Amino acid sequence: MVENREQWSSKIGFIFAAAGSAIGLGNIWRFPYVAGQNGGAAFVLLYLFFIILIGLPYMMAEFALGRKTQKNPIGAIESIKPKSAWKAVGFLGVITGLAILSFYGVIAGWTFGYIFNMAFGNSMVFEEFIANPLIVILLFAFFMLITTLIVHGGISSGIEKWSKILMPLLLVLLFGLVIYANTLEGSSAGLSFYLNPDFSKITASVVISALGQAFFSLSLGMGLMVTYGSYLSKKEDILTSTLYIGLFDTLIAIMSGLIIFPALFSMGGNVSEGPELIFMVFPKLFAQIPGGFAIGSIFFVLLSIAALTSTISLLEVPVSYMVDEKKKERKKIVWGAAFLAFLIGLPSALSQGSVNMFTEFGVVPTAFCDPDFLSHISFLFGDISLTVGAFFLSIFVGWVWGANKAADEISEGSKIFNKIRGIWIFMIKYFIPIVIFLFLLNTLGIYDLF
Ligand code: TRP
Repeated sequence: MVENREQWSSKIGFIFAAAGSAIGLGNIWRFPYVAGQNGGAAFVLLYLFFIILIGLPYMMAEFALGRKTQKNPIGAIESIKPKSAWKAVGFLGVITGLAILSFYGVIAGWTFGYIFNMAFGNSMVFEEFIANPLIVILLFAFFMLITTLIVHGGISSGIEKWSKILMPLLLVLLFGLVIYANTLEGSSAGLSFYLNPDFSKITASVVISALGQAFFSLSLGMGLMVTYGSYLSKKEDILTSTLYIGLFDTLIAIMSGLIIFPALFSMGGNVSEGPELIFMVFPKLFAQIPGGFAIGSIFFVLLSIAALTSTISLLEVPVSYMVDEKKKERKKIVWGAAFLAFLIGLPSALSQGSVNMFTEFGVVPTAFCDPDFLSHISFLFGDISLTVGAFFLSIFVGWVWGANKAADEISEGSKIFNKIRGIWIFMIKYFIPIVIFLFLLNTLGIYDLF
């Protein structure tokens, strides 16, 4: 059966699809608001540290596991360690995928709505817009529908086509905005908030948010890159692919901050705004530029598409699991999984002022996340669950499958990898799981690092 598995039609197609998954609302919407809430530059520095020392080596492990086994995460674990409790890690990934999709789709719906809001000259008040249950749910439903239709089309035709054309355009637009935002009066205070670290601001919640954001942004910790790796041919170079994906993903996140903070400080506003941040700042920024509403509309088109290449990937994990393991028909599963994510997402959609119970959900302490339901799901699944998943998957690859076998898989197609093989093995076996473990314990308050 393995020979028949669909593969990426080209190397560049694979990189764009994986980068398309990584680059999304996580970079442009989530990164700046989490950075703002966690004190700015010190968070950014920690984030970069985690991307380089944990995210990238760990990503290679996910790719290797996927390419070796040619399976979804659950199937991959099963084929290396049959009938073991390790399968639970794969299940956690599938559930996490649905949970992330559920709130991600809501924000993607807002993004889509803002295409029109910009086109009509920013006529909506953001707080009223997100508190309008009908509009928000319709936009959310629409976005899930588009995602479903694309995943329906299969791997190469659906996913690659979209990511290839539009991501470079987004990069260009962001670049222009970085330059513009930094010419505004008063913008330099924003730049210094963003780039001058104050290490006294580092607390347990800052560390876990930076680690979680690193995994979230690179689409790691739930086996998505295992799934994408399973469509990868042996000829491709896992090491350089990982470096490209990491580079573009980080570049876009950093650029988003380079726009948001200078603009925010120049216009006056609150850095710890939360999920609303970009929807407050970008429209005001566009309003100042001549012809800015047209640019704003295009910006939200591109952001919607960046979000789409991510929602596609989130849906792909539960779908590939059901198709591979349960031998279900792909088309039915795609619809079923998307509908499930939609249902789970309804409380998040209603948690921004329309239903008080969800708006003031408040189960997790406010030091870690805002009281609304959406922020809860984002923290529990987008930060904690990915971090826990990455902890177990790194142990699985490093110790159960064996770091040496994983390294052999990576060196197929990558000659340079042999130069860093020893370091990589050390990272995946010791450094990554130990560091994650310590920070998780620290978050639970079991002992105090900070
Ligand atoms: N990385 C995406 C972003 O930054 C979100 C995402 C897509 C994701 N697929 C994922 C996060 C899988 C974790 C796991 O917007």
